[in-house]
Amino acid sequence: MDSYTDGYFSPNEDVTRVAHCKTMEEYKEIYGESINDPDKFWGNYAKNFYFKTFPDKNLFDYNFDIRKGDVYIKFAEDAITNISYNCLDLKVENGLGDVVAFYWEGNDPLDCTSITYKQLLDEVCKFSNVLKSLGVKKEDKVAIYMPMILELVVAMLACARIGAVHSIVFGGFSAESLCNRILDASCDVIITADGMYRGTKLVKLKNIASEAVKLCSEANHKVTTCITVKHVTAKSFSDEETKRPSMRPCLDLQLSWNKDVDRWWHDLMANASTTCEPEWMKSEDTLFILYTSGSTGKPKGILHHITGYMLWASATHKYTFDYHPGDVYFCTADIGWITGHTYVTYGPLLNGATSVIFEGVPYFPDQSRLWAIVDKYQVSKFYTAPTAIRSLMKHGEEPVKKYKRTSLQVLGTVGEPINPEAWLWYRNVIGNGKCSIVDTFWQTETGGHVLTPLPGCTPTKPGSATFPFFGIVPSVLSDEGKEITSSDEGYLVFNKPWPGMMRTIHGDHKRFEGTYFTRFPGYYVPGDGCIRDKDGLFWITGRIDDMINVSGHLLSTAEVESSLITHHLVSEAAVVGRPDPIKGECLYCFVTLLDGVEFTPGIVIELKGKVREHIGGFSIPDYIQSAPALPKTRSGKIMRRVLRNVARDNHDLGDISTMADESVIGVLFANRVG
Ligand code: WT7
Repeated sequence: MDSYTDGYFSPNEDVTRVAHCKTMEEYKEIYGESINDPDKFWGNYAKNFYFKTFPDKNLFDYNFDIRKGDVYIKFAEDAITNISYNCLDLKVENGLGDVVAFYWEGNDPLDCTSITYKQLLDEVCKFSNVLKSLGVKKEDKVAIYMPMILELVVAMLACARIGAVHSIVFGGFSAESLCNRILDASCDVIITADGMYRGTKLVKLKNIASEAVKLCSEANHKVTTCITVKHVTAKSFSDEETKRPSMRPCLDLQLSWNKDVDRWWHDLMANASTTCEPEWMKSEDTLFILYTSGSTGKPKGILHHITGYMLWASATHKYTFDYHPGDVYFCTADIGWITGHTYVTYGPLLNGATSVIFEGVPYFPDQSRLWAIVDKYQVSKFYTAPTAIRSLMKHGEEPVKKYKRTSLQVLGTVGEPINPEAWLWYRNVIGNGKCSIVDTFWQTETGGHVLTPLPGCTPTKPGSATFPFFGIVPSVLSDEGKEITSSDEGYLVFNKPWPGMMRTIHGDHKRFEGTYFTRFPGYYVPGDGCIRDKDGLFWITGRIDDMINVSGHLLSTAEVESSLITHHLVSEAAVVGRPDPIKGECLYCFVTLLDGVEFTPGIVIELKGKVREHIGGFSIPDYIQSAPALPKTRSGKIMRRVLRNVARDNHDLGDISTMADESVIGVLFANRVG
C-alpha cells in the first residue's frame, strides 16, 4: 500500500518489494551513472542483447549545436545486430520458445488466440521470405496499413529481419493521407487487411488501400504489390455466432482487387520456409519511419535507427513498468502510433514479455471491456491514455467494479497531460487504490519515455511526469533561453541525446534542424511548456506551438485548415484548440465563406467530410463556426489568441491594439457554436 502526505503518494510497498529500482537513492545512483558515463551505462545494457559485432566503448557521437555545424546523432556506430533476432531468436535460444508472446483479443470477445515466441519466429521468418521473394531488399521502405492483428507484428518484424524499413500508417488515416505517406517514403509494397471492426463499425481497409494505390499511380508512383490479410472475410465462426452483426466473418464485403498488384497474405505464406537468416545491420541503419504532424501541415517522417532504439525500448519498458518474467502486460495503444511501436511490439518482445494485443475498443461490447480483458489474462501492467480514462470515468464505477482487477500492479498513462481528477480515479477506482501510477511523458521523436516515475520507487504527485529517465537531462528555459530555477513556466529542453531519440526527418534534414534545434541552439526542443516545481518535479503544461493534442494525438492546425479550404465555397479558415472534458482538447474551426454564400448545416457536414477525406476520421472537427472575417493584425496575421478566446467564450481578450478591425469580434462571439 502507498500513503498520501504533503501532496505526494509514497511508492507502493508491494511494488517496491520486487522493483528493479527500489528507492530514490538507488534511482539517483543509477541516473548519475547514466549521465556521468553514458558509454559505460549503455555498453552494459547492450549485454542483454546479441550483437554480431559488439558496440565499441565510445558509443555517442553527436552535435546538438547548430552554430557548430549540422546537427547529428550517432550511437554505437560500429555495432552490428538485428532487432528481430533479439526479439525472437534470442528468446527461443534462452528457453522462452514456448512462452506466450501475445494473447490476441479480437474486437469480439469470442474471437481470440495466442502465439508463442517460437511460433512468432516461424511466422516472421516465413513472411521475411515472402518479402524477399517479392524483391524487397535491405533499405527498401514498406508501407503497412493494418488492424491490430498478429499479422501486423509479423509484418513489422519481417521488415526488420531483412533490413527493410517499415512505415506503419494508422488505420484511421484516409486514402489521401496513406497515399502521401507512400509517396514521401517511395514504398513499392504495401501490406493491409480486407477490413476491421471497431465495435460494430466496419472499416474497409483494403478498399481504402486500393484507393491510395490509385492516387499514387496518378502521382506517377507505382506500388508494385499490395498484400492483403484475410481477416474479416475469413470464415471462422459457427452460424449461430455469425448472426451477431459485429462479428467476423463479413462474407459480403466487396473488395476492390487488381490482379496485377494484389496478393493474398495466406497464398504467399502457404509454402514459405520457416528459416530466414537475418540481415545483419549496422546500428545507424534505419529501423522505421513513422509520420507525425508538423506545424507547417506536412507530416514529418520521423526516422528511428536500430541499436539506439532497441536499447531504449527495452530499458524504458523494463524500468517504467517494472517488468518481470511472469507479468502479463497490456498496452491499449494502436501500433499505428509510436506508443504501439515501442510498447506493444518492440519493448515487450525485447524483454521476452507476455502481452495482450487488443483489436477492439474500450466501449464494445460494453464499457467493461478493458477490465474483462484484465481479469481474463490476469494483466499486471497496464498502459493507456488519459482520454480513455476520462471517457470511462463518465460511465461511473459500476462497469469497472463488475471485474476484480486484483492482478493489476502498475498503471501507465501517456499522450497528454493527465488532469489530477483522472489520475486519482485511475489510482483509486481502476487500481483499487493499490497500484503505482506512472505518467509517462514522451513523443514520437523521443522513441520512448523521457520523463516518468519508476513504480515502487518514485513518490508521485497527480499530474506530474516527475523525473527524467536514465540518460535524460531536461531543463526549463525562458523565452530568452535562460534556465528557469523558480517554478515558472518555460520551454522543456534537453541538452544531450539519448540512444532512442530520432535521427532526422526523412528527406528533410533542414526541417529537422529547424523544428527542433534552432529555437535554443545547443538544445533539443520538443515543443512543450513545462514547470519544474520547488521539489524538482516536472509538470508538462501543454504545447507551445500551433499543434493541438486531441485524445493524445497531435494534430496540426495548418493541416486541418488546408483541408477546410479545399471546399470550393471557403475563402479562409483558422483552427484552434478548445478544452474538452474527454478529449483534452478538440478542434474548433472558424470558416469564412465566399462573398454572398450562406453558412448552412449542410456546409458544416461537407466541411467535416473534407477533413475526413484529407486526413482521416479521427481528426474530424467538433465545432465549425461561420466567421464573416477573421481577426487579423494590421500586417495581416491571424490573431489565434483572439480566436482561442472566442472558442472558449472568454470575453477577456487582453491587448488587441494591433488588430486591424475590431468590429469582427462582436460577430465572432455572436456566431459561436457549442
Ligand atoms: C506530445 C507527443 C508519446 C506517445 C503518444 C503521443 C504530449 C505525451 C504526455 C504526458 C503531457 C504528454 C506532448 C508531446 N504528451 N505524453 N505524459 N504528459 N503531455 O505521441 O503524437 O508524438 O505526441 O504528446 O505534448 O509533445 P505524439
